[in-house]
Amino acid sequence: MPYDIVCLPGDGIGVEVMDEAQKVLALLQDMFGFDFRFESIPCGGKYYLENGRQRDWPEGSEEKCKAADAILLAAVGWPSPDGPGPVTMKNGKMAGYSPVIGNRVNLDLYANVRPVELYKGIPHIIHGRPMQIWDPDKVNMVFIRENTEGLYAGIGGKLNRGGKDLVAIDNRIITREASERVIRYAFELCKQRDKGSPCDGKPRVTAIVKDNVMDGCRLFRDIFFDVAKEYEGIETGKDIVDAFTQWLMKEPERYDVCVTTNLFGDVVTDLASVLQGGMGLAVGNNIGDNHGMFEPIHGSAPPLSGKNAANPLAMILSTKEALDWLGKRKGDAELCKAASLIDTAVREQVIAGEILTADIIGADKASSCTAVTEELRRRIKAAK
Ligand SMILES: NC(=O)c1ccc[n+]([C@@H]2O[C@H](COP(=O)([O-])OP(=O)(O)OC[C@H]3O[C@@H](n4cnc5c(N)ncnc54)[C@H](O)[C@@H]3O)[C@@H](O)[C@H]2O)c1
Repeated sequence: MPYDIVCLPGDGIGVEVMDEAQKVLALLQDMFGFDFRFESIPCGGKYYLENGRQRDWPEGSEEKCKAADAILLAAVGWPSPDGPGPVTMKNGKMAGYSPVIGNRVNLDLYANVRPVELYKGIPHIIHGRPMQIWDPDKVNMVFIRENTEGLYAGIGGKLNRGGKDLVAIDNRIITREASERVIRYAFELCKQRDKGSPCDGKPRVTAIVKDNVMDGCRLFRDIFFDVAKEYEGIETGKDIVDAFTQWLMKEPERYDVCVTTNLFGDVVTDLASVLQGGMGLAVGNNIGDNHGMFEPIHGSAPPLSGKNAANPLAMILSTKEALDWLGKRKGDAELCKAASLIDTAVREQVIAGEILTADIIGADKASSCTAVTEELRRRIKAAK
């Protein structure tokens, strides 16, 4: 069966890690005989600068994404030549907005699913040194971040007087419909995972809110406890987001599935990536009822780009998530098998602890980005 896969490499290390993911896909295509039909669409800040400063991806990209069986996104964002921050378009949005937030909203990818598992063999680079801070058997949770509204709803504006911006407003939108479906997604996932929190083995969904202060969070919380009534046997928790950040670091074993609003989810999952060994390993699946887009959670890391030093594993693990999702959706067990080969190879490679990038094992022992993929391909080939 042919599968149309749209690839959105973006900027900086995004382009590099997407190349690595495609090498893995090419291998799997050879091994399994998959009929992948790739369409690579340039996008992001550099594209905008180099193509007339009108659009952050070519005309027709929205339709191609809509028609795809799965979308792989690497990372967008490039430093502006005109001032601090990334390249910004005339409409005030970051160049790269369309493939990321545009796709999330237009394709209704309402659940941003971010697994946080610490693989055995991964140390934590703290103070520039690798050390084992958290135990692998104490870190295994999934975040579900609402992906279509909240503070990223895009409703707001600036008040400009005499050429000077004086006021900026970002409105936070929390609706019953969007909250309810993402909360239900979290409970359903908790049931499917059937793992429980590492602290006591009990399946648990925790809502991360700021309900002591914000009305939107009170609505989200009330819907959370209403939906929870439908899921007997699943424990519930509610943490206030500020206190949550310290529990997450001190006792990650408390958490199984966490559900939260858009901005909180964006922030706390970058923090959570520290538990799993950093952004070079963290993935974010954007899932809707009809479409899926899979990406590492990291950005384009401009200072790291062009050095063959970026960790390709987050992008490769995102590709694994895409194959698994597509396989289950289409009833294609071979795709799921290919996904599981990637998963096993990554786990074995980190346990071996040798051919990995600097963000995992430190600069003195580091291998290059391309060498990590080469070793991974060797392991995948050997495993079948
Ligand atoms: N979804 C996206 O495309 C996305 C997400 C976050 C940031 N961004 C954009 O990316 C640009 C840079 O943002 P930033 O510097 O805040 O975040 P970043 O994620 O690019 O980098 C943060 C830190 O993590 C490191 N890092 C990130 N990915 C890595 C990898 N694969 N291997 C090794 N180290 C890695 C970087 O070197 C840096 O030290 C900005 O323009 C930002 O807007 C895009």
